[in-house]
Amino acid sequence: MDRGEITMERTLALIKPDATERNIIGDIISMIENKKFKITRLRSMMLTESKARQFYDVHSSKPFYNALIEYMTSGMIVAVELEKDNAVKDFRELIGDTNPVNAKDGTIRSKYAINQSSNSIHGSDSNENAIKEINLIFN
Ligand code: CMP
Repeated sequence: MDRGEITMERTLALIKPDATERNIIGDIISMIENKKFKITRLRSMMLTESKARQFYDVHSSKPFYNALIEYMTSGMIVAVELEKDNAVKDFRELIGDTNPVNAKDGTIRSKYAINQSSNSIHGSDSNENAIKEINLIFN
């Protein structure tokens, strides 16, 4: 029965090495909280190569895969589990296009990304991947 309840979704954000290196973790988290996402778990960590390869397995055939793994294991990241109605879609909107040249004004990547590799933040692209990624990162 539809009782008009809001279904809370979860998604995963990774604040990437280019952002932790530039001391903008707090700025990015403020942008996330200002958009009414609830932080349910947060952890700073170094990704192991094996975890990074598993995390980005969907891109394993892409020409940028090895560079992506090298970059994602090159420095500290901050993993943030987020809860909100329509979390996956709303968070993808907040982070903006992969390439900052194409990211809309007001998005995290438009403000902070350096290029499409060092693009400051990751957000899950579907509910299914959000669950997989959250389990991989927090377990
Ligand atoms: P992310 O949202 O974490 O998902 C996959 C990542 O691969 C992406 O952000 C970028 O960091 C990286 N990526 C995607 N496309 C390219 C590309 N053309 N060249 C280099 N890196 C890319």
